[in-house]
Amino acid sequence: MTVQPAESLSGLDLREEIDRLRKERKVVILAHYYQKPEIQDLADFVGDSLELSRKAAETDAAVIAFCGVKFMADTAKILSPEKIVVLPDLEAGCSLEDSCPPQKFRAFREAHPDHIALTYINCSTEVKALSDVIVTSSSAETILEQIPEEQKIIFGPDRHLGAYLNRKFGRDMLLWPGVCIVHEAFSETEMLKLKAQHPDAPIAAHPECPAHIIDHADYVGSTSGILQFAKTMEGDTLIVATEPHIIHQMEKAVPHKTFIGAPGADGNCACNICPYMALNTLEKLYLALRDLEPRIEIEEDLRLAAKKSLDRMLEMAAGTIGKGDLGRA
Ligand code: 13P
Ligand code: SF4
Repeated sequence: MTVQPAESLSGLDLREEIDRLRKERKVVILAHYYQKPEIQDLADFVGDSLELSRKAAETDAAVIAFCGVKFMADTAKILSPEKIVVLPDLEAGCSLEDSCPPQKFRAFREAHPDHIALTYINCSTEVKALSDVIVTSSSAETILEQIPEEQKIIFGPDRHLGAYLNRKFGRDMLLWPGVCIVHEAFSETEMLKLKAQHPDAPIAAHPECPAHIIDHADYVGSTSGILQFAKTMEGDTLIVATEPHIIHQMEKAVPHKTFIGAPGADGNCACNICPYMALNTLEKLYLALRDLEPRIEIEEDLRLAAKKSLDRMLEMAAGTIGKGDLGRA
């Protein structure tokens, strides 16, 4: 696709144009909590990975405009192949997906033939096709509890989420060595300095954080779980150890409370903003609705193979509502 220079869009009211196009083309705009506030505010639905997968599977819109990263838009296409799925920027990837090339994952599986593959949704369609069951951070606990304790499991690609689940449930899953570069960047030292300044503020952390961050958390859970905790906790200040754009929803939901993003290495870097999520902009969303490009396309055999492990997730997570959660270890 040829991306127009930004100046050629300067006369347009992008919000108005996006509204016009979404009605004309029967578009549903899905956005993850890590998107910029201006995108969250015009989305039809904002949610975590599990909620967005469910919305993608259920929608009767003709077009899904997915404001998130590519593995999420791929998931929407796998579950809703008859829809046009557009992603404003196809370069919006994920470090966890990058850490797990399908050929290496296949070799890992083949080296452990007596293990099933329980795989985090942050991976490629090819890796989903090589997996038995997919999990999100909000469904991982519910799903793991349904797998017999004697069943051997390999878990990828997020070693921090896998290690957290191992610790919490006394499991011994073999872990793929991937990490999220965003959650990896929180600094324990800086967080403890922040905590000393706000001793009464609890810490809520995403399970993609390393153990040295999770160990200080009062609450551990998915993005929707952290949002729910922010709404229901008793105090008025919360330290948030996940991508800071979720704070936008917290401030909308409970404007009288204060939310402080956990710091990165030098105390005030922007290293906790996901660089992939940040690639989506209003301009690119407008172009995606206007041109119905860039589109997600998946070869049918691959799609069907990946759909099996995603369908298992949706079945096994059926009792999990959006706020569904890991809770505190
Ligand atoms: P959840 O929204 O499912 O908690 O996952 C966060 C994430 O990994 C987004 O990249
Ligand atoms: Fe991937 Fe981390 Fe960005 Fe989520 S926050 S999309 S896991 S790099």
